[in-house]
Amino acid sequence: MRSTEQTPDWAMNPETRAGRVAECFRERFAGEPELWARAPGRVDFMGSHTDYNLGYVLTLPISRDTWIAARRRDDRRVRVYSMNLDAEDEFPLDAIASVAGSRWCNYVRGVAATLQNEGLAALGCDAIVHSTVPLESGLSSSAALECAVATMFEELGGWKLTPERKALLCQKAENEFVGVKCGILDQYSSCLGREGCALLLDCRDLSTRAVWIAGGIRVVVCNTMSRRRLSGGEYAERRAECEQAAAALGVSALRDVTPGMLAARRHELSPGAARRCEFIVAESARAESLAGALTGGDWPVVGQLCAASFAGARDLYDICSPAMVAMMDAMLAAPGAIGARQAGAGFGGCMVALVDATRTDAFRAAVREAYYRSTQVDPEIYPVEAAPGAEVFDGAKIGK
Ligand code: GLA
Repeated sequence: MRSTEQTPDWAMNPETRAGRVAECFRERFAGEPELWARAPGRVDFMGSHTDYNLGYVLTLPISRDTWIAARRRDDRRVRVYSMNLDAEDEFPLDAIASVAGSRWCNYVRGVAATLQNEGLAALGCDAIVHSTVPLESGLSSSAALECAVATMFEELGGWKLTPERKALLCQKAENEFVGVKCGILDQYSSCLGREGCALLLDCRDLSTRAVWIAGGIRVVVCNTMSRRRLSGGEYAERRAECEQAAAALGVSALRDVTPGMLAARRHELSPGAARRCEFIVAESARAESLAGALTGGDWPVVGQLCAASFAGARDLYDICSPAMVAMMDAMLAAPGAIGARQAGAGFGGCMVALVDATRTDAFRAAVREAYYRSTQVDPEIYPVEAAPGAEVFDGAKIGK
């Protein structure tokens, strides 16, 4: 699925979706799947690029997720078919090589290889993958796939990982096998989600705190439909700039820089590095503040924090595209908008709005129209709910 394609209606109904996935399994592999696993995407409310700086992120694991229906094989081979991409991969567990030019295959292979390297026995299987997380759009489709795959191998192998360890192993697979030096945000969100709440993640000690959101607010994802890719050089470039700034200030990560320290020692950094650093220091503090404002229902503060985050992303961290600016204008002008900002790494992709729940429909219609008017692109605008983290479930029971 390209990010410019809309998620079909049938995929949003769990019964129909499970029925289609089971049907696909029968067509490809004959017989029925014996286990189902799912893992959610995420949208971050605050904390862009703070994870690899060991700061705070406020994240929401969402009701858009990746499903896998699988059945064990006895020949130590893995065969996996992606319904979204209409593509199949097959590999032997005893000699896992990466595939040049096919990232989705490498997510599956990378997780299998990483688990085995940890001494966890992976078993061969036939598997169908289906996702409602738009691909390469900033909602963590890759982590959802990795964490669903790890959950499948866990169930097949009969061993159990804590959600924290599963997240770390999936991140390792992405860092080392796929070669994308992402932080821990996406995999942690996908593994540690809890129904009904957001998570405040401390990326230094990797602890999470459940954050309850006061009633009356809806979370609405607004997809600019412009693609983004972490493997593109800009993400790695931002990360390197932050590491250099930390080294110049003599700290192990920008998490350790306070606003006072930055003000006093700004001259020791290049103007570019100082802007990156200023953004991270403020953004990490905003993640903690937003957690309080969301729980307390302080909507004006929510709006101010989101606006400051977007301004910093645009002016200090340089991760905003023209499509994102057009979407921000559309979101802020729409009825019911409480706060709006970027999501994920930026550089296009999805954005997020916090909206007065009673005005969600009017908000969606207005954003769609305004964004289309300024870009001639039809965006996908949809509410999401907080979702539980990676788990097995009974797809056979819900499918029809
Ligand atoms: C991507 C990465 C995360 C994080 C965000 C930006 O989603 O995978 O680790 O750095 O960008 O906050």
